[in-house]
Amino acid sequence: MCGIVGYIGYRDAYPIVIKGLHRLEYRGYDSAGVALIDKDIKVYKKAGKVSDLEEFVKGVNLHGTIGMGHTRWATHGAPSDRNSHPHSSGDRRLTIIHNGIIENYAVIKEALLAKGHVFLSDTDTEVLIHLVEDIQKETGLDIREAVRVALNKVIGAYAIVIMSSDEPDQLIAARKGSPLVIGVGEGEYFVASDATPIVEYTKNVIYLNDNEIAYIRRDDLLIKNIDNTVQTPYIHELDLKLEMLEKGGYDHFMLKEIYEQPRSIRDCMRGRIYPKIGKVQLGGIKEYTDKLKNVDRILIVACGTSWHAGLVGEYLIEEYARVPVEVEYASEFRYRNPIITERDLVIAISQSGETADTMAAIELAKEKGATIFGVCNVVGASIPRITHAGVYTHAGPEIGVASTKAFTAQVTVLTLIAFYIAQQRGTITQSKLIELLTQLNEIPELVEKALQSNDHVKEIAAKFKDSRNCLFLGRGSSFPVALEGALKLKEISYIHAEGYPAAEMKHGPIALIDEEMPVVFIATKHSSYEKVISNIQEVKARGGKVIAIVTEGDTDVKAMADYVIEIPQTDEAFVPLLATIPLQLISYHIAVMRGCNVDQPRNLAKSVTVE
Ligand code: AGP
Repeated sequence: MCGIVGYIGYRDAYPIVIKGLHRLEYRGYDSAGVALIDKDIKVYKKAGKVSDLEEFVKGVNLHGTIGMGHTRWATHGAPSDRNSHPHSSGDRRLTIIHNGIIENYAVIKEALLAKGHVFLSDTDTEVLIHLVEDIQKETGLDIREAVRVALNKVIGAYAIVIMSSDEPDQLIAARKGSPLVIGVGEGEYFVASDATPIVEYTKNVIYLNDNEIAYIRRDDLLIKNIDNTVQTPYIHELDLKLEMLEKGGYDHFMLKEIYEQPRSIRDCMRGRIYPKIGKVQLGGIKEYTDKLKNVDRILIVACGTSWHAGLVGEYLIEEYARVPVEVEYASEFRYRNPIITERDLVIAISQSGETADTMAAIELAKEKGATIFGVCNVVGASIPRITHAGVYTHAGPEIGVASTKAFTAQVTVLTLIAFYIAQQRGTITQSKLIELLTQLNEIPELVEKALQSNDHVKEIAAKFKDSRNCLFLGRGSSFPVALEGALKLKEISYIHAEGYPAAEMKHGPIALIDEEMPVVFIATKHSSYEKVISNIQEVKARGGKVIAIVTEGDTDVKAMADYVIEIPQTDEAFVPLLATIPLQLISYHIAVMRGCNVDQPRNLAKSVTVE
């Protein structure tokens, strides 16, 4: 949602903080701000991008070896200079940056207003720092204790960093429900929402746990629980390279991430599949083999693109493992009193591992006794910590807000899970598994081949860049691919798009078809091929423009579609991994041609940490 970065050490803080904000900008980009301590606290903030903030502080003397910064995705209060973080206490001694939501801020604010506090913004964050100020005034507590007491009074999610001019050689950081990572250097510490601003300086990090507060000085770090017990931190070594965070010669992160898919899918399968002997090995869930043998039902919970991956997973798990699967929007799941038993397995899918709706769904399923697996990309994020077991997707950092390589990695992991469960339950023969794994092993090369259609896809994109609507249709596991294609186009080009099961078109959406309507079909040569051909004819008969994703060498669809994009032949099980590629490219090129901000589409944030 929002991005937080802090530094305390011997270097100039501002360049570190501003660079960190650029790295975190994918988390939110409607306003940004920094605070530096040089005797007293100086705050600079501005609505707009991090680059607008940089412009704003040009020429200002930005000295100080302690600093913090924030890039915002608005929740309470519209994006504006005054609602930007950092926020200060009434007496300006204290300054805070915050990611998350203080749910009971209104009650606290009312009490503080009655005591004469004056607020300069509409944010919940400003209320929190006034609360700390008030506690200090009333009790005489030092800043460390006052923050701890204040955090015991708030309800909601937060990752915060606080500075006090009374103790100018200290940062206080705390988390509950929103991520916070501390980088451990020599005589310096870093704090950030994720490791991306830190990796350049140190590989040693501590993932703060919920309800922990870190008191950070240049040469000293003390972590306590909110109930005041001292915690022993565990230092992890980051498996993250700087080049993973850079565009590497591509115009956009999204394009780079699309092109990374042969590598990311290969990484995702590495050490997990043994095609020659027909074996899938998933270390993260192997302790649950008995559970998988006897599971009654699998519930998949996720949001957005991850939900689409879940739908592909449903086809694969039901087909191969023969376990009933239900795929739920995490945001709806918890509000409808779902029936969950101890015999259920819940699989939560999340690229970021921080999506609030998905986390809430997990908590609910856990309360009801289900076993929870996570399928996440970001190592050390919240979801892998609250699930019983899981499988990482290993796609590497995804910076573009529109999910691309994370989706194909999620689908790959779900394919492996489907085969793994099938293997445990004996619902697949060894020879079939050998055949499927042999083909799966070739998918990275086939994705590479699918990417070669880029120039052709770009030409097609040029024809449809001014469309106002677009339909994406597919059947079977190509239906979720159609949904994903539509979501990509919507979110980065702002063209209205819908994904539908191809056969459902005649039950309503067909009314939309006219000469202006591009319809993208996934029409590969598999089980529903003939049926999809009929659907294509229905669109053509009504003047619609058909763009078809077809199997290499197809001539039947070619004869009736306006444009075709070929993908390599593979087993039906793996079509989603290939058919997705041209859909990602088409959205990308259309968005670029329309002059849209591909990596940071309007109104969006990479991880949605509010419900
Ligand atoms: C996809 O392009 C979007 N950025 C969005 O739908 C995303 O997939 C969704 O918010 C879920 O995020 P998660 O995978 O990090 O939980």
